[in-house]
Amino acid sequence: MARRSFICGTGSYLPERILTNAELASMVETSDEWIRERTGIRQRHVAADGELTSDIATAAARRALDAAGIDASAIDLIVLGTTTPDQTFPATATAVQAKLGMTGGAAFDIQAVCSGFLFSLATADSMLRQGLFQRALVIGAETFTRIIDWSDRGTCVLFGDGGGAVVIEAREGDFAPDEGIITHHIRTDGTKADLLYVDGGVSSTGTIGHVRMEGNRVFKHAVANISSAIEAVLQETGLTADDIDWFVPHQANKRILDGVAKKLNIPESKVIITVDQHANTSAASIPLALDHAVRSGRAKPGDLILSEAMGGGFSWGASLFRL
Ligand code: UT7
Repeated sequence: MARRSFICGTGSYLPERILTNAELASMVETSDEWIRERTGIRQRHVAADGELTSDIATAAARRALDAAGIDASAIDLIVLGTTTPDQTFPATATAVQAKLGMTGGAAFDIQAVCSGFLFSLATADSMLRQGLFQRALVIGAETFTRIIDWSDRGTCVLFGDGGGAVVIEAREGDFAPDEGIITHHIRTDGTKADLLYVDGGVSSTGTIGHVRMEGNRVFKHAVANISSAIEAVLQETGLTADDIDWFVPHQANKRILDGVAKKLNIPESKVIITVDQHANTSAASIPLALDHAVRSGRAKPGDLILSEAMGGGFSWGASLFRL
């Protein structure tokens, strides 16, 4: 008998307000054409005044719980990947816990920027497998536009707000090696922090700060790091790119997705692309794309999903799971 985690529901939420490329072109020296050609982005969603990361996370979580057909009271763990918490403390996950009416279990945040969802999934999966918890909400949610410098055209066109969630559950049985959540590969390299960071913080400036990025240099590392993480999970499992039903990548830039898919021989028809609709939502982008794949009827139970991410830190990783 083995203990394995399974995904049993997905959900997502995007704030109502849409900010188009054309609107951005009236704010900084840019154009719809430049943004679309260099990134694939057409629009992004922006949280309303007073709309918090925990509100977005809770909305996504409720939809995932509905899809799984279970009540919040059945959840005993919440792991939330976010870079834009409601407050410095307590963890935003505890606000979600309260908003869902939960009084038991444990809830905490994970800070791995754009890789936050994969780091959260790996953490929750490991804890479930170990028997510490039975059923988890794994969430990625951001109000990323709150740390944007709206006068910096190199970053302000790239990001948006949103949230996505999955419910995962531990089951016991004799499972084939490629059932449920299969494996993860997560890594960081702190020596590259100066290429993508926020120029503020609690113990440094006492301010929130804004995103700073050397986009071009991040781009080059992104394709290399993501490819090596994917190769690691495929090698570990003996699966190949041909076995993958859907590639659900972090949605930073369509050119990065295309570059990775090409390098790994994943046909475009298997790549889930949502970056055009919601730009880079950091930790939220993978669960948003996954939920989109499920609700659009493309990803079905039993499908093998490959996911990857790369973000500030640097942090990066890949996960393999069967729906
Ligand atoms: O999720 C976290 C990880 N982040 C990423 O993966 C982002 C990785 N990087 C990227 O996606 C791309 O590097 C960007 C989209 C950020 C930039 O695209 P690029 O093709 O690497 O452009 P670049 O930075 O080399 O800039 C090319 C030109 C520059 O002008 P000059 O120096 O050639 O005259 C920039 O000043 O484009 C200019 N530029 C812009 N022009 C119009 C930069 N941003 C803009 C803009 N509108 N918004």
